[in-house]
Amino acid sequence: MKHVSKQLQNSLLALTTTLGCLSMAWAGVPASYEGPKPDLKIESANHTFAEKYPLQYQSWVATKDSEQVDSALEEDPRMVVLWGGYLFSHDYNKPRGHYYAITDVRNILRTGAPKDGDSGPQSMACWACKGPDVPRLIAEKGEDGYFDAKWAKYGAEMVNAIGCADCHDTTSKEFQDGKPALRVARPHVLRALETVGWKFDQLDKHGKRVAVCANCHVEYYFAGKTKAVTFPWDNGVDVDSIEKYYDDIDFKDWTHSLSKAPMLKAQHPDFEIWSLGTHGKNGVTCIDCHMPKVESKDGKIYTDHKIGNPFDNFEFTCKTCHEQSKESLQERVKAHKKEVKDVMIRLEDQIVRAHFEAKAAWDAGATEEEMKAALQDIRHAQWRWDYSAASHGGHMHAPDVLLRVLGTGLDKAADARTKLARVLAIHGITHEIEVPDISTKEKAQAVMGIDYAKGKREKEEFLRTVVPQWEEEAKKKGLLPADAK
Ligand code: HEC
Ligand code: HEC
Ligand code: HEC
Ligand code: HEC
Repeated sequence: MKHVSKQLQNSLLALTTTLGCLSMAWAGVPASYEGPKPDLKIESANHTFAEKYPLQYQSWVATKDSEQVDSALEEDPRMVVLWGGYLFSHDYNKPRGHYYAITDVRNILRTGAPKDGDSGPQSMACWACKGPDVPRLIAEKGEDGYFDAKWAKYGAEMVNAIGCADCHDTTSKEFQDGKPALRVARPHVLRALETVGWKFDQLDKHGKRVAVCANCHVEYYFAGKTKAVTFPWDNGVDVDSIEKYYDDIDFKDWTHSLSKAPMLKAQHPDFEIWSLGTHGKNGVTCIDCHMPKVESKDGKIYTDHKIGNPFDNFEFTCKTCHEQSKESLQERVKAHKKEVKDVMIRLEDQIVRAHFEAKAAWDAGATEEEMKAALQDIRHAQWRWDYSAASHGGHMHAPDVLLRVLGTGLDKAADARTKLARVLAIHGITHEIEVPDISTKEKAQAVMGIDYAKGKREKEEFLRTVVPQWEEEAKKKGLLPADAK
């Protein structure tokens, strides 16, 4: 560790011990978590902390600066085909500042345009990583009471974006005294952390710091009748272990509209991929890079809550451990990004072809029996692609891991296409299957039969009529400041 300063090595040692237990315990520790405490009180209204903690509050508000909305589908229209038959193919944006989490989940076409609390395509699980009103409402209603409802049912309660009570025990004495009092308040997260040997109360301060990000920056699925958020970590957090978990319980997120393959959608396995990468293994946490300690104008040391790109804060992040210049490290990361992206696109092209070839095989009269093995390969190839693509910082957090995952994805896609060629041949088709023009989002959505304009019109109506009512109600309850616009 030539580039790492001595003083940091000591604090790293502490976490390496915690993480040692993380990797050892992947085998699956029985959950002993007993459920939420009945007297759990969660103060979720972010604005109530502005006065007492101005430095933390103002830097938290500054996540507002990351305001750019970038459509991932416009940048890469292949995704429209890859998610055929699933709402992600209608609308999918890249992440931006935490400040916008509530706005963005209301705006995205995937949540539809519900007219009342019982309509719309999504359930309450869709708010689960958007803000501190989620643990508050779970504490009030219990997990079943929270999850077993449509997304719009409690729209007037879900108004605070990712904030203080997502990470802090805001009603504790320690927090009143200005100490972090970090806490994970989502019962499903506490249970998942236990399956990998992380009992929150027993973690040291480094482990607790990562655990608060694992509230949301993780892979999960919506299980059972109530669609409760569940983490698939029983076998481990690497791509094969999670794939095996889903295969063993015969889970699928949806059936692909072209190939009819039983598909998996990855969420954002940032925690998992970080833990497998060089920094994770060396005990360097999300906080070391994304929330460094900084100094205010009048010399107070505090935690910078403007979570964003760590290069913007180079002196307090990378520089505390590395001797290299900002430029050279930035070049390294850029190069990793390009390498990962190149292989990712190659894999996408292969899977897109496989979906169209499978459709051609069905159209030619292929049977389920003939198709089964190829469809399973498509499922596995795309899972490997999505595990890599859905983790937005993955090229930085563990480029080596992503390249390996994508490499195995290419194998699976090749297996699928070989099998499909055979099935096609049985049914007399030996020519190449054409892929239609999917060179823009609009063209790809037309090919996939998606009426984007209609979804957009309905959404605008919803934003104009339903959302203002939610906000008015929330103000009356004190969840938002009375003068919020
Ligand atoms: C995404 C998680 C997260 C959110 C959201 C968050 N914090 Fe923090 N906060 C942290 C972490 C991590 C630390 C540093 C913990 C440590 O030093 O061990 C911290 C530290 C603090 C501290 C201790 C003093 C310091 O600066 O280190 C205070 C006070 C605090 N936060 C207040 C707030 C307030 C007020 C809000 C809401 C406006 C907020 N935090 C939102 C994660 C968060
Ligand atoms: C309550 C859920 C939640 C918690 C806790 C949380 N995040 Fe996020 N994070 C999100 C969501 C949702 C987005 C995307 C927001 C959007 O695009 O509207 C996001 C976006 C981000 C981004 C992209 C920001 C940008 O400007 O592009 C980074 C970086 C990030 N989170 C890091 C962290 C770190 C580090 C932690 C722990 C200290 C953390 N997050 C804790 C849910 C969460
Ligand atoms: C060693 C430093 C480091 C650690 C540790 C780290 N990150 Fe990052 N992360 C970065 C950098 C740097 C980027 C931006 C990469 C780039 O510029 O291409 C980033 C990007 C991200 C992004 C994507 C932001 C976007 O807008 O696309 C998310 C989300 C994120 N990190 C979350 C996390 C979480 C959660 C953890 C812990 C589980 C974590 N990071 C640990 C350095 C780190
Ligand atoms: C708390 C200390 C710490 C911080 C902060 C930190 N690193 Fe590291 N970094 C390490 C350690 C430890 C290693 C592993 C060194 C080894 O194996 O010799 C490492 C390795 C690396 C590597 C080589 C491994 C790889 O994944 O390619 C790169 C590149 C890197 N860091 C970039 C960054 C960047 C960029 C930042 C800031 C965003 C950063 N680091 C922040 C401690 C840190």
